[in-house]
Amino acid sequence: MKIINNKNKLIKLIQSKRNLGFIPTMGAIHDGHLSMIKKASNQCTETIVSIFINKPQFNCKNDFLSYPRLLKKDISILRKSKVNYVYLPKTDEIYPNGYNKKIKISSFKKRLCGKFRPGHFESVVDVIDRFIKIIKPKRIYFGEKDMQQLKIVEDFIKKNKIKTKLIACKTIRDKNGVALSSRNLLLTKNQKLIASNIYKLISREKNNLIKNNKLLKKIKKNIYKFGIDKMEYIKIVDINKIIKPYRKKNKFRIFLSYYLGKTRLIDNI
Ligand code: PAJ
Repeated sequence: MKIINNKNKLIKLIQSKRNLGFIPTMGAIHDGHLSMIKKASNQCTETIVSIFINKPQFNCKNDFLSYPRLLKKDISILRKSKVNYVYLPKTDEIYPNGYNKKIKISSFKKRLCGKFRPGHFESVVDVIDRFIKIIKPKRIYFGEKDMQQLKIVEDFIKKNKIKTKLIACKTIRDKNGVALSSRNLLLTKNQKLIASNIYKLISREKNNLIKNNKLLKKIKKNIYKFGIDKMEYIKIVDINKIIKPYRKKNKFRIFLSYYLGKTRLIDNI
């Protein structure tokens, strides 16, 4: 596994690679990331992971400052995986001339998380666009855990005729159902239990919710009773009707975002 800090060095090293799988991350590597790496190494000749905590995509300074930074541990975990390259860029190399303020992305950005995080998805797409231009991967891997992000990037790739193929990867959960996330490191034992109760409640009620969306109100009340601090949204979304061309078949997911203390969690079930 090669660790690269320098953009030009990286380009030299990988420019001849035609079948590269790329997994962008912000570090605090967990089994969700590792499952994507596994998928990439099965589908591609070589794999590359980036670790870059992309400041502009954080809406709140505190969230950026408290984001887990575990580089040494990450490297030792990645060494045991099948990754060939780890790219650790410096901010200047990614943004030599500042951010792309004119980037155009899907109007899906206005819904769900987008309502609470203005500019967030533009910043995500901006950084991914920059990474794709540097790495030119054959495939790029995104987790369904962040479905809105996945769909918005997929739409951007399509509309801009980018040759990289986006591969969606299933959400990996802990044994209590909680979707793995770097932010889970910030949760107490009790908060993890609450997150697990929420997952179990929604999984159990999902079909009823799809049949009768008036139930959402009651479910929301019950979630508050579990002990969350704030809920941003809970919505039923047909993920086959987000980006065009729509698929005929319905595929509903319950999307939600809530706070446990200062930690914001999202999921789609
Ligand atoms: P990060 O939160 O580190 O996630 C990196 C990738 O891992 C994303 O595609 C995310 O959806 C996926 N992922 C996270 N938890 C997962 C889980 N439990 N199961 C499956 N996949 C999971 O998402 C970001 O970083 C950033 O926004 C990034 C795309 C790197 C841009 O800065």
